[in-house]
Amino acid sequence: MTPADMAATHKAAFTQSRPWSETEFSDLLSNRFTFAVGDARCFALIQVIAGEAELLTIATHPNHQRRGLATQVMNAWHSHAINQGAERAFLDVAADNNPAIALYDACGYAPHGRRPGYYKRSAKESIDAIVMQRPLP
Ligand SMILES: CC(C)(COP(=O)(O)OP(=O)(O)OC[C@H]1O[C@@H](n2cnc3c(N)ncnc32)[C@H](O)[C@@H]1OP(=O)(O)O)[C@@H](O)C(=O)NCCC(=O)NCCS
Repeated sequence: MTPADMAATHKAAFTQSRPWSETEFSDLLSNRFTFAVGDARCFALIQVIAGEAELLTIATHPNHQRRGLATQVMNAWHSHAINQGAERAFLDVAADNNPAIALYDACGYAPHGRRPGYYKRSAKESIDAIVMQRPLP
């Protein structure tokens, strides 16, 4: 899975927000705290620092959604993060992203806080982020 594969899947999956570029993925992967899990159908990017794992992004290509791929990728990155010493996982999700909230809920995450207006949708519209977390393992 290359940064170009990630950018293509990200662009296909994220229809309501700005897709991340190949260069952004490449830069993120050059950080020693960051790792990727999955393949061009579904992948996640994670950062582990000081015992805390943060999900930076996860995307399943629309041609492959609802087949359990994101669930598999979530389980795989949890294991990898635990091996790197993580004891807690957290993430941000747009308050109106019901598919992702359902995925995270099924993966053991609970709401932990809210960031008002965190995601810009347009010049006029923004949406809150819900912070979710779970212990690892
Ligand atoms: C969220 C996303 C990653 C889920 O990927 P996926 O591979 O389809 O997820 P899974 O098949 O593993 O689904 C696991 C569970 O999540 C929930 N879920 C996933 N998609 C859903 C949808 N469209 N509507 C409602 N619940 C959904 C369900 O509980 C599902 O279990 P079920 O299929 O047994 O009902 C995918 O929809 C996506 O890429 N969305 C666009 C990008 C995005 O929003 N990323 C998250 C940003 S925080």
